[in-house]
Amino acid sequence: MHPILDPGPAILAEAVEVVPYPQDRPLDEANISQAAAGCIGILSQLMDPIRDTVLATPGLRCVSNVAVGFDNIDIPAATARKVMITNTPGVLDDATSDFAFTLLMATARRVVEADSFTRAGKFHGWAIDMLLGQDIFGATLGIIGIGRIGRGVAHRAKGFNMRVLYYDPQPLPPEAEFQLSATRSSLDRLIAESDFISVHVPLTPETKHLLSTPQFEQMKRNAILINTSRGPVVDEAALVQALQARKLTGAGLDVYEREPAVHPGLIAMPNVVLAPHIASATVRTRSEMSAMAARNMATAVRGGRPPNLVNPEVKR
Ligand code: DGY
Repeated sequence: MHPILDPGPAILAEAVEVVPYPQDRPLDEANISQAAAGCIGILSQLMDPIRDTVLATPGLRCVSNVAVGFDNIDIPAATARKVMITNTPGVLDDATSDFAFTLLMATARRVVEADSFTRAGKFHGWAIDMLLGQDIFGATLGIIGIGRIGRGVAHRAKGFNMRVLYYDPQPLPPEAEFQLSATRSSLDRLIAESDFISVHVPLTPETKHLLSTPQFEQMKRNAILINTSRGPVVDEAALVQALQARKLTGAGLDVYEREPAVHPGLIAMPNVVLAPHIASATVRTRSEMSAMAARNMATAVRGGRPPNLVNPEVKR
């Protein structure tokens, strides 16, 4: 396992002997597979590719991913090999929704630029046109994916009196739509009408490059894109081109297409706020994720059915 936070290690230590991941090498499939030899479980993180080579480890019973997303794991291969896969849903919804809103506000009001400007000693006095940004209160927010985190963002948007549109193949129940003041929309309409677009879908073959040149072409010129889901949902090269061509105003990004690499075009742009995949990074949330992942693993190695089993077919 990678290091996790308390109380995760103690929960695991009661159930199994723990072998740390080798820290001195990039964790590609071959390295993970070598490190996992003889193990009955792998406590993985979202950057670990867990594909068939790893899943074929003799005696491997469970891969417990310390994340809600599990696009780093080949689920059909795991199921075929009867390896249980678990994740950490729920505990990170609030931290992630908070952070999507943090990026939204920081990008709209140019907080990072303003901080650099002030520290650089460029503040020589109030000016009417200094660092003008976008209004948030009363603006239209488009939420792509209305799962737990998308709903969390809609909830926060109520406090800012925003008009909320959402796109999701699965409609919310009418009471939830009413409570969140959220209106279901087509993706095209959401893109054309939103001042802010926040992405909250898992990465699947269907959602890869969900936002690319045709979508950027339809955006309002003042639109700001926020992505705290997975990088490849947004076509990063197309986003850079669209930002350069001013098809939209800015972006607040926590995730990237080739993490940890960030497109150099994004790094060069002051109207883009960049974070290193930290949306769930609060002390409480990361500790709860650690505990949950450890409990999932402990249950699996003791022969039970882990609470957050992603492929239930393996253990009925
Ligand atoms: C996840 O859990 O999938 C996030 O990306 C990291 O917390």
